Amino acid sequence: MPTSLRSFFLGVLATLVLLAVGVLAFVWSGRYDMGADAPHTRPVFALMQTMRERSIRAHAADLVVPDLSDPQLVLKGAGQYAAMCTQCHLSPVMTDSEIRPGLYPQPPNLSRVRVDPKQAFWAIKHGIKMSAMPAWGASHDDATIWSMVAFLQKLPGMSAQEYKDIVARAPPDEDMDMGAEAAAPAPPHHDNGGAPDAH
Ligand code: HEC
Repeated sequence: MPTSLRSFFLGVLATLVLLAVGVLAFVWSGRYDMGADAPHTRPVFALMQTMRERSIRAHAADLVVPDLSDPQLVLKGAGQYAAMCTQCHLSPVMTDSEIRPGLYPQPPNLSRVRVDPKQAFWAIKHGIKMSAMPAWGASHDDATIWSMVAFLQKLPGMSAQEYKDIVARAPPDEDMDMGAEAAAPAPPHHDNGGAPDAH
């Protein structure tokens, strides 16, 4: 290799090593503000938004959407949504919550925006990294998640009264109890702490 080319590559290598050391030193120094109340810079925010959008779109592309107009499915989804999602995503009877103002990124108000069914299913099932959106697939089967998606298609534009009515008619959200029973081993034998169902 000619000497000039060699020193060029050595220069590039040295620059890369210096950069890596600089990044590691910054990480180690603790100077980065991890607080959710310290917004990203615009370029970082734009990068993260684009990565999230492209990722969800790509991962959701091959999903097969069931019939979302089935009224029973929509009804089931209403109960699920009311039980688990309104604190972050609001509803026609809620304009704010205690948790929502402090969330970063802000969850979309799903009673205003209609989400794409495939992308919504994927985001609900898998959650979204580095945001407050949980992976509901850890505790819910696909059919239940599709019920939420079905409901989300109807939610934008629903009046407060329509929302109250459908939630009142919805089957109760039983997944929590079922999940807890299936997952929890027999409780150890000690004082039941006054649990109402003891003995
Ligand atoms: C603790 C707060 C929290 C809860 C509870 C929560 N979410 Fe989310 N959700 C978020 C946040 C934050 C985002 C946005 C993430 C982002 O922009 O990167 C999000 C994003 C979404 C999206 C993607 C929207 C889009 O525009 O791509 C859907 C769909 C969604 N949530 C549905 C639900 C459903 C259904 C439930 C209830 C089962 C739920 N979420 C419960 C915080 C929450």
